[in-house]
Amino acid sequence: MPPKPTVPEHIAVIMDGNGRWAKERGLPRREGHRAGAESVRECVEACKQLGVKYLTLYAFSSENWSRPADEVSALMNLLERFLEQKAEEMMKQNVRLRAIGHLDRLPEKTRNKLRDAMARTADNTAMTLVLALSYGSREEITEAARAMVHEAVEGRLVPGDVTPELVASHLYTADLPDPDLLIRTSGELRVSNFLLWQISYSEIVIYKKFWPDFKQADLFAAVEEYQARHRRFGGL
Ligand code: IPE
Ligand code: IPE
Ligand code: MG
Repeated sequence: MPPKPTVPEHIAVIMDGNGRWAKERGLPRREGHRAGAESVRECVEACKQLGVKYLTLYAFSSENWSRPADEVSALMNLLERFLEQKAEEMMKQNVRLRAIGHLDRLPEKTRNKLRDAMARTADNTAMTLVLALSYGSREEITEAARAMVHEAVEGRLVPGDVTPELVASHLYTADLPDPDLLIRTSGELRVSNFLLWQISYSEIVIYKKFWPDFKQADLFAAVEEYQARHRRFGGL
């Protein structure tokens, strides 16, 4: 029998195209974000079925703060609704919620709901859903560098101690494996400041369709494509 194809342990997704999806329909951008929340459900469900252990979703970038205030507040409201409504579902599905990013920048109300949902689901074990919120990779790496300099100044670190493992242990993702598969919707061929360190050897799958059109079958197809790839990690 051929060996069972490996399921990626960690999938990361750049959920892009909500605004264009809405525009195509003559709807306000926030309707695209609302529709995108349904795709999140599809994606989590598909990952659970496959036995994916970690799913990281890029929900709001450090740069997204530069969008008009009404869009930012619509996104924060949507996130709050998502956290309220999904906490119960995550309990039923045994899914643990985590967040990475500059969370202090989130409005207090949003932060509280996030903290509550994370606390409630902390002991769940089937899958970890990681939301990247106010997340920027350059910020993350800069913070890690700053923390290491602090340790050096305090005499707890010498230059020879600085290894890739030490750097990784100072990132938000310290206790998460690197993504095996990175998916981006809406056809853009860029990573937009997402997990720059962690995706060094991720397999990338790009979909032309907008995020609100992303369904379970798309996740399964991306995993099939991943399984057909030959990961070499620089070797032969
Ligand atoms: C992704 O959709 C969601 C966020 C970035 C918050 P966009 O809002 O970027 O939608 P487009 O790319 O403008 O279509
Ligand atoms: C990336 O999408 C961020 C999220 C999906 C949250 P953007 O729409 O912000 O990225 P750019 O501006 O097209 O690079
Ligand atoms: Mg976009």
